[in-house]
Amino acid sequence: MPSNKNNSTAKAADAGAASSTSRDEIIKGLNEDLAREYKAIIQYVVFSVSLKGAEYNDIADQLKLHASQELVHALEIARQVDYLGGKPTVTGKQAEFSNDSKKMLEIDLKDEQNTITNYRERIREAEAAGEFALSEALRKIIAQEQDHEIDLKDALGLR
Ligand SMILES: [Fe+2]
Ligand SMILES: [Fe+2]
Repeated sequence: MPSNKNNSTAKAADAGAASSTSRDEIIKGLNEDLAREYKAIIQYVVFSVSLKGAEYNDIADQLKLHASQELVHALEIARQVDYLGGKPTVTGKQAEFSNDSKKMLEIDLKDEQNTITNYRERIREAEAAGEFALSEALRKIIAQEQDHEIDLKDALGLR
């Protein structure tokens, strides 16, 4: 097929750009992080008004705060992608929903834990690449994600 030739040309070009590989990998990872932030914003906006039951009043208010913090994270990650010479993604991870209040909180908890794991990896990558301003920014974000995880665990009676 003619595309084989194009593929090998592209591979040769990639090999020539080896010095920028780690930066490209970081940009790719940050765009995955950004897509997770978009998903978090959507879920916190929707879940904060969808939780039903007096026992969920406090956490519903906290989810509204989480929503605004996730937006700040998204803006910061997009800024970092742009700074590194990449294009911030316009596509979020697929948001989830449940009619069950407890299930909504479980979805958010799973996502926060996944997000924390990924930011830890991104911090390691940033430091290995000498991108210390990025790792500093990510450390501020991950501290808030850990607070979100604690809020959700408390609401679910897991602490
Ligand atoms: Fe976030
Ligand atoms: Fe979060």
